Amino acid sequence: MRFCSLHLNTYFYAQFKYHNMAYNLLQGKKGIIFGALDEKSIAWRTALKCYEEGAQLVLTNAPVALRMGEINKLSEATNAPVIGADVTNMDDLKKLFEDATAHFGGKIDFILHSIGMSLNVRKGKSYTELDYGFNQKTLDISAMSLHRVLRTAWDMDALNEWGSVVALTYIAAQRVFPHYSEMADAKALLESVARSFGYHYAIKKKVRINTVSQSPTRTTAGSGVKGFDGFMNYAEKMSPMGNASSDDCANYCVSLFSDLTRMVTMQNLFHDGGFSFMGVTQEVLNEMEK
Ligand SMILES: NC(=O)c1ccc[n+]([C@@H]2O[C@H](COP(=O)([O-])OP(=O)(O)OC[C@H]3O[C@@H](n4cnc5c(N)ncnc54)[C@H](O)[C@@H]3O)[C@@H](O)[C@H]2O)c1
Repeated sequence: MRFCSLHLNTYFYAQFKYHNMAYNLLQGKKGIIFGALDEKSIAWRTALKCYEEGAQLVLTNAPVALRMGEINKLSEATNAPVIGADVTNMDDLKKLFEDATAHFGGKIDFILHSIGMSLNVRKGKSYTELDYGFNQKTLDISAMSLHRVLRTAWDMDALNEWGSVVALTYIAAQRVFPHYSEMADAKALLESVARSFGYHYAIKKKVRINTVSQSPTRTTAGSGVKGFDGFMNYAEKMSPMGNASSDDCANYCVSLFSDLTRMVTMQNLFHDGGFSFMGVTQEVLNEMEK
């Protein structure tokens, strides 16, 4: 009897722990997650949360990123296959969607686009001396890739009705952050693609497309921006709630993939602890008065 109640207690504790964290918001849903490079990646955190919420996943990244091998840990943790695809290559994307729908045995419910790369920033070229060859690649990888992904899904009719697509962006699309350089233009283009394609996909299949504009976050892509620490500290002091973490961002993405946000589309949604609507905070004023 005593053994039995102990056993039951352990069982209920495990259930409580599980349910305390998860709401089964994505039970039965199938999604593709682009851009998990390592465990700091926003895509990595989001994949874990989606899995916790009951989703089935396919993970994808550029073949060169897969060679790092890190993603295999995430693949194990989320019981998801990894399918390589360079997001600027339409053949890769077609194969990815074919393999993903075959794996799921049906269409896809959600997609996370968590991809960004600036060749000019990487090569140390400032905004006033852009190399236009690099610039084209930056725009293709970081912005038009969303169009490429959506176009592939559209042509193959690979998304279910009421599907949801989220792409990650940054407030440099609206305001100037000098060292963000050409990525600011890339993000402005990305947000525009989300709106424009959002119109067509809403009409065709009630698929919603939004961008989430995230606080500065310490990741491989994030830390590539010059003066990133100053950037992050400033945002922290300017946000009444402080910077939003990648785990918070993951939770927000889950809500956007869930059925609770069906009528939200073509939006750029700030996930930044209030940063975007602040003029100045007392903390920053204190610094200025020193
Ligand atoms: N870190 C931040 O401060 C921050 C803030 C706001 C928005 N974002 C955005 O979040 C997204 C994810 O970035 P992150 O911060 O998690 O960094 P990250 O470096 O972990 O992720 C970027 C991903 O893009 C992938 N990628 C690059 N080129 C690719 C290609 N040709 N094909 C397929 N994938 C490719 C990389 O392999 C990597 O997985 C990006 O869009 C980024 O701009 C980041």
